[in-house]
Amino acid sequence: MRRIFVGLIALIFTSCSTSFGPYRTVPMAPGEDVKEHVKTGKKYMIATQGRYATTAGKKMMELGGNAMDAAAAVSFVISVERPQSTGIGGGGFLLYWQPGMDEPMAYDFREKAPLLGHPKMFLDKKGNEIARKSLDGIFAGGVPGLVAGVIEAHEKYGKLPLATVIEPAIELADKGFPVYPELAKALKYKADTLAKFPASKKIFFKKTRKGYVVLEEGDTLFQKDLAKTLRAIQKNGRDGFYKGWVAKAIVDEERKRGGLIRMNDLRRYNVKKRRPVSGTYKGHEIFSMSPPSSGGIHVIQILNTLEPLNLGHYGIQDARTIHYTASAMQQAFADRARYLGDADFVKVPIKELISKEYAAKIRARIPKDRALTKEEVMPGKFEGYESPETTHFTIMDAEGHVVSSTQTINGYFGSSLVIPGTGIVLNNEMDDFATKVGAKNLFGAVGGKNNLVESEKRPLSSMSPTIVLKNKRPVMALGTPSGTRILTCVAQTLMNYLEHKEPLLNSVAAVRYHQQWYPDELGVGEFGLKKEEEDKLRKMGYKIRHKNLGCRIQAISVEDGKLIGVSDPRGQGMADGE
Ligand code: DON
Repeated sequence: MRRIFVGLIALIFTSCSTSFGPYRTVPMAPGEDVKEHVKTGKKYMIATQGRYATTAGKKMMELGGNAMDAAAAVSFVISVERPQSTGIGGGGFLLYWQPGMDEPMAYDFREKAPLLGHPKMFLDKKGNEIARKSLDGIFAGGVPGLVAGVIEAHEKYGKLPLATVIEPAIELADKGFPVYPELAKALKYKADTLAKFPASKKIFFKKTRKGYVVLEEGDTLFQKDLAKTLRAIQKNGRDGFYKGWVAKAIVDEERKRGGLIRMNDLRRYNVKKRRPVSGTYKGHEIFSMSPPSSGGIHVIQILNTLEPLNLGHYGIQDARTIHYTASAMQQAFADRARYLGDADFVKVPIKELISKEYAAKIRARIPKDRALTKEEVMPGKFEGYESPETTHFTIMDAEGHVVSSTQTINGYFGSSLVIPGTGIVLNNEMDDFATKVGAKNLFGAVGGKNNLVESEKRPLSSMSPTIVLKNKRPVMALGTPSGTRILTCVAQTLMNYLEHKEPLLNSVAAVRYHQQWYPDELGVGEFGLKKEEEDKLRKMGYKIRHKNLGCRIQAISVEDGKLIGVSDPRGQGMADGE
């Protein structure tokens, strides 16, 4: 049994960054209770970024449901509980595993560009990007996929009726809940943009003697219109969203504001069942999301690059470990910018990028004693090849069913636009396309030709819901929000657990770092790493910048027949099970 409780004690007794053994971990987020973030169970385990969401998942299990019933309930409740992060106006990916499968099934319910979408839709006549057009308001929204995806996966693998799994979300939207610190922060941050849209203002603002002000911590957030929309879905399934009065409300708003989504886009929205990308790491099989996500490919590429280096000998935050890992990340992002996009539209050299041979070439180019500059790192060349706010939850049960799903509306409150009468916050996923070649998205990721907007194409993602198996039994499953950092946070957590053999809690709570080629800097989370290791890295040429990397890993592992759930101590969340 890994030493899970040692890390737990370190977290309980510290309120600032702590050195745990030879490396640093983070403290609990203010107001969060460590006992809600780390749990051990025997029958099932659920780790999400919301108390109501985890509680709804548990309720489904108590009603005789399975992991997919819990996943559907969690998806709908988290949409209500974290309107800053996800929602039925967004999309996502979900990996599902059950015993007897050859490999997990990957559900792609990513948003799509509207039929009228085209590569120049975010440019002015001179070919310059129009500021914030892909980020705020009607144009920023892709055709939402979340409702279709959750319903399709649930229909196939769930046991309980849709009406049952959606009920907790309807109740929460109707009865409301107190605004918690993370939500209050997001509301304050986006208040000016939300205020531009009357239907957004109606939900997220309150009337005071001084006029309308954004809701604050402790105020109650009611989402009555959203409850109505959820009831339409409860009654009519996917048609409750993609046809009927909800669809009409969406298209009316699109037309009124000059947006491009039409009835046909909604009717044609299709969930894609995909094969996940897969790799191996020291006897484990790693499965993660395939394109249109870049996440899985690069998680596997980074792990392949590091595997033969046996970094476990150095320790998780040793300067040598960080140097090799950061160099592997840097290369992954150079390849992401060059090659990645929706593989239904462009050719992505997936096999080559996740091959051990390519990883060996990358490794051979990493100098032992210094950082590579961004100019030195070039995308790989592949013979025969022609020509990057969210939420994650993980659920596992004792029989070996696993759900790992990342869902999003992209930035805080997506496009900030609520579709009048529906409570739906429209995503701003169109910003994940390259608005033009070389342009950077919200997360600073460089966009390439393969990721330009095309009619019905899906924007490139970094979301990396991941499942790890050994001898066809689940070992671990995880994922996180946070844009381009998603794939490096998932890769590091996998390395901390599988290579460095740290307890799951420590693997999640360890201070993280991130290198994404452009900008040429090593982002180091929270309060930084130990000074002596940072000094060594600076001497090697790393430009270290302490910054919030934003990831909130939700992970579950299986150890000695027990299920261990960890909801990242950095933020709101809850792991619970039985
Ligand atoms: O698909 C992606 O990679 C992004 N739209 C995810 C956005 C995200 O994680 C924001 N979270 N904090």
